[in-house]
Amino acid sequence: MPASASSRSRRTRLISGLSALAALGLTAGFLVATGNEASAATACKVDYSVNQWSTGFTGTVTVTNLGDAIANGWTVGWDFTGNQQVQQGWSATVTQSGQHVTATGPDWAKSLATGATATFGFNASYSGTNAAPAAFTLNGTTCTGSAPPTTTTTTTTTTTTTTTGNPPPPGSHVDNPYAGAKGYVNPDWSSEVTTAAATTGGALGSQMSKVANTSTGVWLDRIAAIAGTDTQRGLRAHLDAALAQATGGTPVVAQFVIYDLPNRDCAALASNGELQVSQDGLSKYKSQYIDPIAAIMADPKYASLRIVAIIEPDSLPNLITNTSMAKCAEAQSSGAYVQGVQYALNKLHAISNVYNYLDIAHSAWLGWDSNLQPAVNLITSTIKGTTAGVNSVDGFISDTANYTPVAEPYLTDPNLTIGGQPLRSATIYQWNPYFDESHYDTAMYNAFVAAGLPSSIGMLIDTSRDGWGGSARPTGASGSTVDAYADSGRIDRRLARGNWCNQSGAGLGQRPTVSPSPHFDAYVWIKPPGESDGSSTSIPNNEGKGFDQMCDPTYHGSQQANGGNLTGALPNAPLSGHWFQDQFAQLVANAYPPVQ
Ligand code: BGC
Repeated sequence: MPASASSRSRRTRLISGLSALAALGLTAGFLVATGNEASAATACKVDYSVNQWSTGFTGTVTVTNLGDAIANGWTVGWDFTGNQQVQQGWSATVTQSGQHVTATGPDWAKSLATGATATFGFNASYSGTNAAPAAFTLNGTTCTGSAPPTTTTTTTTTTTTTTTGNPPPPGSHVDNPYAGAKGYVNPDWSSEVTTAAATTGGALGSQMSKVANTSTGVWLDRIAAIAGTDTQRGLRAHLDAALAQATGGTPVVAQFVIYDLPNRDCAALASNGELQVSQDGLSKYKSQYIDPIAAIMADPKYASLRIVAIIEPDSLPNLITNTSMAKCAEAQSSGAYVQGVQYALNKLHAISNVYNYLDIAHSAWLGWDSNLQPAVNLITSTIKGTTAGVNSVDGFISDTANYTPVAEPYLTDPNLTIGGQPLRSATIYQWNPYFDESHYDTAMYNAFVAAGLPSSIGMLIDTSRDGWGGSARPTGASGSTVDAYADSGRIDRRLARGNWCNQSGAGLGQRPTVSPSPHFDAYVWIKPPGESDGSSTSIPNNEGKGFDQMCDPTYHGSQQANGGNLTGALPNAPLSGHWFQDQFAQLVANAYPPVQ
């Protein structure tokens, strides 16, 4: 899990990133269409479902084109019979006049091939009853649910309503999978924590035991992790355990990290994986990794679970900043990262109780102006190239396995002038305008919505190790130079923000939290605290893990990687993913908020 390279190299690397994207021929459309709408026979089917509460509801509409291909745009229409009032739509422009509603597909998805579907949604208010519309039209023709010339009188309308105030029916795809759900506690991680607490004892041991019941991510970090290993249960066993943790009608949300792309961790060594682009890695990724995962997750037995898939940390971000490195260049030129991510999104989005969150690195990696929009462009085009287009993701996650804080409470204005200079010019920030994840994610959210993603997308932050508490935590900022001011006030006490491995001084961050602020679905713990980022010396292994000097506490990084500072990594660290007791002890001791 590397962080980044210097801002200067970021700019030069960007150019190759964009040209390769063009070379891949990625386009925004998600449906291939032929035919001419003006002379076409139109026939269609509409599925309409709602999740409602006492004063409002979210509607989801899927239109299937059963007639000739549509090339030049589609509009779905219906009439409400009550006082429903549309407030906001996504994946279509949804407008209402009186009781009549029209939903027009976005410009980048005007085509609807024969047999193809388009899904869009909207939020609306209502009072009294909320009857489903009796009929729908597609480009003015009433949808009968069958293809011409056969006609039937039945409109295919499926209405799923929930009793006011009750949770949505199990298995339905909700806007925020964390809302109203209980997080799955990985028994394997939990028992590591309980053992650590017992061996530590005292006040620290008792603090450790208090976090043992926290929901953390399960990393499917190799093909063998799907079936399970000697020490870690496999995917089915996790899902069975998640089912067993359900109580009453509260759904369980279980989080899995999809992490096995060919040429994985292409800019670093500590989390290199088992698949290589040059050894048919993309086909193996699809058939031996994603397909088996999707087959298990699609088992109807697990339909009541909400399964969150964290898609490929660091992959697309490495294509923005690190294509000067051979493995990243290959991941880009071969199309392996983009196509692998698209394949994962397609397979997993097809399962209605799976929720895709795509990784967007963190503010200290993609926050620079020269990186942020190119990253949004690459990620958006990747998503739009999937079968379901913009609907294939539920949102994004930042700070996965990193240490950048949610907020810098004493450094809130990057343009604050100190000694005649803007704060963001401080050495630690290198002109990056984003000092923390909440500002970065908000900027990312806005950029994604502007690029055509639905406004219903939600952000996640991995807060597992970004707490920065303990006695060294500052209580304010002061000083007459930007460096003095920034260094006195920042809670992120890394020697450089490019330091990413087993950071000394870090603490547990905010505990998993649902809907912490608008457009944020949750704060989550994806990197299980106590699991190493990488070994501090070379350790032979059969996991494909390398030794990255950024995990060696005696190593000074390069100017590019971390300004030539020491790495700030803790000594005596085991391989990435292995239990690192000393780090866990420090994370608990430096937790912010403290563990009480
Ligand atoms: C490692 C994985 C591990 C994960 C969670 C990653 O850095 O490469 O093997 O499962 O961290 O600890």
